[in-house]
Amino acid sequence: MNHISQVISNMTTDFNGKVIKKYLCEGCGNEVTVLRMKMLFGPKKGEWFEGKRGCECEVYEIVRKEQEQAKTARLKRIFDENSLINESLKQATFENFEPNEFGQALQKAKQFVEEFDLRNPKNLFFQGSFGTGKSHLSVSIAKALQEKGFATIFISTPKLLTKIRNTYNKNSELGEEKIINAIAEADLVVFDDIGAEGEYSGWSVQKLFEVIDQRAGKPNIYTTNLTSAEFEATKDMQRIFSRMMMNSEPIIMNGTDYRKRQFLKGAKENV
Ligand SMILES: Nc1ncnc2c1ncn2[C@@H]1O[C@H](COP(=O)(O)OP(=O)(O)O)[C@@H](O)[C@H]1O
Ligand SMILES: [Mg+2]
Ligand SMILES: [Zn+2]
Repeated sequence: MNHISQVISNMTTDFNGKVIKKYLCEGCGNEVTVLRMKMLFGPKKGEWFEGKRGCECEVYEIVRKEQEQAKTARLKRIFDENSLINESLKQATFENFEPNEFGQALQKAKQFVEEFDLRNPKNLFFQGSFGTGKSHLSVSIAKALQEKGFATIFISTPKLLTKIRNTYNKNSELGEEKIINAIAEADLVVFDDIGAEGEYSGWSVQKLFEVIDQRAGKPNIYTTNLTSAEFEATKDMQRIFSRMMMNSEPIIMNGTDYRKRQFLKGAKENV
């Protein structure tokens, strides 16, 4: 069967081109004929040139690029449609994480991306005070993995619980089901700000346990401001904490709130 590129090539050049050589293309595996041909029309009409016939590498490359673009678009859609993320964190990347005393945390986050392997799932557990960059690094990881071809989702845990609760109130389980399914299927889920919903027992914490439990054996990232002691507060929290620690590498980030530091820096410069 003639490929379209060959047909066009036949139309625009002299059929009786002289065969110079034939070889097997390493790219597409086709037998390629190198010809000396004469242009039949166009601005270069009458000129002789060397041309190839039979090679479909360019076509394969176009198809490959299209497939890649479709995949990238799909992964972006999964992230955008299912993530629950604050506007201020959407722009966070490794590149715009300013080097500070948390350089080691940044390195560990990058290493997690490099070593990411679905067959050997590992978790990260960011713990520390408010505003030190735990969420920033988690978003950066989710994005970097997305670029590597993995489906990732970033979930603000308090927002998730509010959302689930709202769907109950409205008596429609649709919204919840969609996001719970997406969480179950993703290659990586970030559960951000665990414990920030301020409830350590009752319905919401049980629900949270269910969601996290469903991700057992898959790579996850957890972030929290709570200390280990606070996780001991209730049985439900202990269960969640024990899941979070399973197969997890802890990254402790205690320090000054980044925004406060920026503010103070600005104030100093303006004196
Ligand atoms: N090292 C840093 N470089 C640039 N921005 C940072 C850095 N650390 C924190 N931020 C920014 O400060 C804000 C608070 O950080 P965040 O990651 O939300 O803190 P945490 O999750 O630890 O409470 C975010 O907008 C984040 O992008
Ligand atoms: Mg945070
Ligand atoms: Zn080829």
